Amino acid sequence: MFNKIAIIGGSGNVGSHIAFLGAIRGIAREIALFSIDTPRCKGVGLDISQAAAVFNLPTHIKGYESYEGLSESEVVIITAGIPRTPNMTRDDLLLKNASIVREISQNIAKIAPDALLLIVSNPLDAMCLVAKHASGFDSQRVVGMAGVLDGARLNYESKVVLNDFQTPIKPYVLGAHSDDMLPLLRFSLYGDKPLAAILDSDMQQYLIKETKNGGAKIVSYYQQGSAYFAPASAAIKMLELVTNPQDEDIVCSVYVQGEYDLHDIYIGLPVKLGKKGVEKIVNLTLNKQEQEMLKISAQGIKKQVEILKNNGLLN
Ligand code: LAC
Repeated sequence: MFNKIAIIGGSGNVGSHIAFLGAIRGIAREIALFSIDTPRCKGVGLDISQAAAVFNLPTHIKGYESYEGLSESEVVIITAGIPRTPNMTRDDLLLKNASIVREISQNIAKIAPDALLLIVSNPLDAMCLVAKHASGFDSQRVVGMAGVLDGARLNYESKVVLNDFQTPIKPYVLGAHSDDMLPLLRFSLYGDKPLAAILDSDMQQYLIKETKNGGAKIVSYYQQGSAYFAPASAAIKMLELVTNPQDEDIVCSVYVQGEYDLHDIYIGLPVKLGKKGVEKIVNLTLNKQEQEMLKISAQGIKKQVEILKNNGLLN
C-alpha cells in the first residue's frame, strides 16, 4: 500500500474512477485529487471517502485546491487533458494536451520530486515524452498506461469468440496507443496456448480489428467522452505491480533507447514494474513482419514528436 498517491484530473471520469477503484483495492492510505474544477474535485473526494467508509476502508480521498496538497505523493497520475471535439484536428488535441501535461509535470517536479509519474492523458505516447522532458525525471519514473487497456480489449474479445470467461488470457498488445497498435496473437496466451495457434486467420483478423476498435466503440455508445472503467482499472493494475512487484510482465508505454531497435520515444512494450517504476523492458523475439509493424507504429509517434518540437513544446 502506498502512503499517498495523487490524481491530476481527479474530477474527470477516468481520474475519479481511478480514485474509487484505488480505494476499493486498498492502493494507498491517501488519494489526493486535483483538477481545474476544484468544487467537483472536493465533491468526488468526499463522495468516494464516504463510499470507503461504508466498508471501513483505510483510505482518505481528498480534493485539493492547489498543488501544495499533493506534496509527498509517491505516485502522481495525470489524466488531465481536453477531449477531442468535432471541429478539432488530432494535431490541435496534441498541442493543447501537450501544454497541459507540460505545465502539470513542471509543477509536480517541484512539489513531489521523488514521485513516479503515471501518464494517462492522450495522445498517450507523446504525452509521456512531454512529461519526461518537463519533469526532468529519469525515464524509469515516467510510464504510460495504454498496453494494459488495449490488452484487456483483446482479452475480452477473445473470451467472447471462444465463449469462455473462465480460462485466463494473457494478452500482448504492443506499439502506439493508436490505430497502429500491435495485437500480437502469436504471444498472447489462452491458458498456455498462443491465441494464434487455436484461431483461424479470419478469427485472428477479427480479434485484431475489434481490439483496435475497442475504445472507439465505447465513444460511439457514450456519445460524449470515452471509456473510463477499463482505463481506470488498467492504471490501478499497473500501480499494484509497482507496490507489489510480481514476475509478471505487462505492456506499458516506456522510453526506448535502442530496445526493439527504437530510440528516444515512448511506445508500448512489455515491462517488469517494481518499486522504482520501470525495472526492465522485456524482449519478445518478433518476426520480420511484427518488427515492420512496430516500426510503422513508432513512425506515427515520431510524427507527433516532430509537431511538438516545431511548436516549441519539446526540445
Ligand atoms: C481509450 C482512450 C481513453 O482507448 O485512450 O479508450
